[in-house]
Amino acid sequence: MQITYYGHSCFGVEIKGKHLLFDPFISPNELAAGIDVNSVKADFILISHGHEDHIADAVSIGKRTGAKVICNYEIYVWLTKQGITNIHPTNIGGKLHLEGFNVKCVSAIHSSSLPDGTYGGNPMGFVIESEAGSFYYAGDTALTYDMKLIGDYRKIDFAFLPIGDNFTMGIENAIICTDFIKCDDIIGMHYDTFGFIKIDHATAIKKFDHAGKNLKLMKIGETITKETLKYSRSY
Ligand code: NI
Ligand code: MN
Repeated sequence: MQITYYGHSCFGVEIKGKHLLFDPFISPNELAAGIDVNSVKADFILISHGHEDHIADAVSIGKRTGAKVICNYEIYVWLTKQGITNIHPTNIGGKLHLEGFNVKCVSAIHSSSLPDGTYGGNPMGFVIESEAGSFYYAGDTALTYDMKLIGDYRKIDFAFLPIGDNFTMGIENAIICTDFIKCDDIIGMHYDTFGFIKIDHATAIKKFDHAGKNLKLMKIGETITKETLKYSRSY
């Protein structure tokens, strides 16, 4: 399982040759100027909610790759109107059985409107289950007791958590979340992209470390394997 960071909350995860792309927001992101959006691979595009900073490149990448888009019903209607045809509507609680992996849709505490103001339904997170590994992609969310359900539901290898504060949970709440989801290996997301969510990297990593947790802040364009998360622990 390989993980590639495309900036903000956009990650590619390769599972046995299939490429999952989460929340594509690359071309408007100045920090991701080094990424060629036209070479980003996708067999599946998962959209957590409708905000611009999660969906900006979904139509262009979806049309170029023909990837299957997975999103809630309201976003499904909106993307279908824009010519996306390979698309699967779902909602919180639903589980999809796909080629080599499953997607469980879980709750997120946030809001969701589409870039033109259309109602975007409820925001979601995803738990991805596969023989190669399982993980949680939280999307944009506050800390919520619902995250304990993930810890009870499935042993996960790592999790993508928002840590930028202001629009989502910040560092302190993300550390509490690691206890709820029973997972100590975290990849940070939703930080630094705009002024409200800039963080001090060293302080964030130190706070996780003091709590006995591992926070990985990937470089944009970097690719890692999930195993390196555990190897990079300092304890
Ligand atoms: Ni959002
Ligand atoms: Mn966001």
